[in-house]
Amino acid sequence: MHFQNKVVYQIYTKSFMDSNGDGIGDIPGVTQRLDYLQELGVDYLWMTPFFKSPLKDNGYDVADYTAIDPVFGTMEDVDELIAQAGKRGMGLMFDMVFNHTSTEHRWFQRALAGEREYQDYYIFRDGAPDAPPTNWESKFGGSAWEYVPHLKKWYLHLFDVSQADLNWDNSKVREELKNVLRFWKRKGVKGFRFDVVNLISKPAVLEDDHEGDGRRFYTDGPHVHEYLHELVMDAGIDNYITVGEMSSTSLDNCVRYTNPEEKELSMVFNFHHLKVDYKDGDKWAVMPPDFGVLKELFCTWQEGMQAHQGWNAVFWCNHDQPRAVSRFGDDERYRLESAKMLATCIHLMRGTPYIFQGEELGMTNAHYTAISQYRDVESLNYYKILLERGKTKQEALDILAQRSRDNGRTPMQWTGEANAGFSTAVPWLAPPENYKAINAQSAVADGQSVFHFYQKLIRLRSVTAALR
Ligand code: GLC
Ligand code: CA
Repeated sequence: MHFQNKVVYQIYTKSFMDSNGDGIGDIPGVTQRLDYLQELGVDYLWMTPFFKSPLKDNGYDVADYTAIDPVFGTMEDVDELIAQAGKRGMGLMFDMVFNHTSTEHRWFQRALAGEREYQDYYIFRDGAPDAPPTNWESKFGGSAWEYVPHLKKWYLHLFDVSQADLNWDNSKVREELKNVLRFWKRKGVKGFRFDVVNLISKPAVLEDDHEGDGRRFYTDGPHVHEYLHELVMDAGIDNYITVGEMSSTSLDNCVRYTNPEEKELSMVFNFHHLKVDYKDGDKWAVMPPDFGVLKELFCTWQEGMQAHQGWNAVFWCNHDQPRAVSRFGDDERYRLESAKMLATCIHLMRGTPYIFQGEELGMTNAHYTAISQYRDVESLNYYKILLERGKTKQEALDILAQRSRDNGRTPMQWTGEANAGFSTAVPWLAPPENYKAINAQSAVADGQSVFHFYQKLIRLRSVTAALR
């Protein structure tokens, strides 16, 4: 698989382009904008989940892996998108959320109905209502366990209570997930992104964590390499472009995930470089970025992966991160310079660059000032937690303005017209005021724009062996 000379563009489906005037981005909207992406020059399009979902976590809570949520379109729309992208030389990468399902998934519903077979698809533990099996914390705040009174059992959810963790030790679960991959392969998908995939393997015996939130027990867990290898080989995707999202991972594990001899994944995302502005490692404690640490981390990962034939996905932005230009640069006076500098840094490293929608325009944070403007489940949870911890409302809002995932999720800024040209209706999440100046239409027309700078970097990678 040759991915060393490729560039991936990430589409946050809900915020890319709304084709039917309901204020929510959708699949036909992406198809409408393929010419723009072709002009930019990217090779693959990673689309965040648009599968059937109650959308508690904007689609990362999947209720059916092979059906399309009506909010995003239909299966015909997906077929059309794959065909149209293919005509323009671009391949689709779909987002596989295999660590957990929505609690509305039929497997979980059958588990709730008392079917033992389906309870074994998840991580249920017997127990009393006041004694969760362990003290682990959810990554979205609060306990990682939820009690089901009529079953007298707890289930594990490392994320929202509506996202129940799957039991990968059950071979039936692994077979189900292989079938999902086979289904999308037949549709002509060219690659896959695997959501928080280094969390899939939990220890057989679960115990309290007296040092942390539990992550040391299940991060890069006991059978993760074995399960990934099996999944990839059995589903026959070893020649596809694949990327795993690795939460709190280590260099050694990432070498193993991506060294071609292991036949696991093409590449991995790690997030260590995006914690250099977390005070004491706490996302909700802000401090200015430590650029010395940032540089050391990049060196360690670049050299460490190269020395052992590993391969990185290199990136600043995604739908879980604030905008890099606001975070590491100056999004007012030096917005253009900051955006181009950050682009250079990523695109001249060893690895496959990922561009998150709007990054090629130098889009900024949302700069929201009221809690009513936020939509993200994690942000809303943490707003409450911050108030409980004694922050004032203003302090909590200032933290969200820097840290909320909604900063990266505002609608793509297509034009200076109403709703940033994203929709004819009021968008589900408000665009920042600056869309009148910062938008695709004006960037494409301006030879000095961030857009044209990215376009040059993408071309350089495909023609310059040294860059790869
Ligand atoms: C990943 C996704 C994030 C989601 C979480 C749970 O981190 O990128 O958006 O909330 O997994 O699926
Ligand atoms: Ca729509």
